[in-house]
Amino acid sequence: MQKQIVAAALCALLTAGAALAAGPARPADQRAPLVLLDAERHIVLEEMRNFLAVLQTIADALPREDMKTIARAARSMGSGAANEIPPQTVAKLPEEFKILAGGVHTTFDLIALDAEALADPKHTLSQVSELLQKCNACHGIYQIKVGRGAVTKK
Ligand code: HEC
Repeated sequence: MQKQIVAAALCALLTAGAALAAGPARPADQRAPLVLLDAERHIVLEEMRNFLAVLQTIADALPREDMKTIARAARSMGSGAANEIPPQTVAKLPEEFKILAGGVHTTFDLIALDAEALADPKHTLSQVSELLQKCNACHGIYQIKVGRGAVTKK
């Protein structure tokens, strides 16, 4: 008898699960879509991976207190670095996105300047934490979709 109840409960659970898996009315990822061409998506994501690679270099250099390497790495992602994103792609990006991206570049500038002027690894680490907050802030708002659709300018 008890076995039957357990089996019935399991069955009900599985049916509910299947209904959920069939798809919610709204998409699971509700971050604002940036609609870009495939090649543009590639350029943006490549820049993102460069951010991550530079952060890895900085994290590697920090315990060695190798402030020169930190400054060089941070500067390569600063606002003076060659902008990899073509203007026609930038034109598709909302103002908010550009402000958040600009904040990341100027924080890299500051990390480079302070690494040279202060050479204080703890200070650099706190700046890296601030930087990561900026990465997270933008990732919480936007996703990239490939398409020729409407410009997502705000
Ligand atoms: C102005 C907005 C913005 C900022 C700032 C930003 N990102 Fe991103 N990042 C994105 C978007 C949008 C995606 C694509 C997310 C998606 O489609 O799911 C992305 C994707 C990525 C990816 C995935 C790359 C891939 O190949 O799939 C990495 C890694 C990444 N970001 C690292 C970083 C790091 C590290 C920082 C901070 C130094 C950062 N991002 C700052 C918007 C931003």
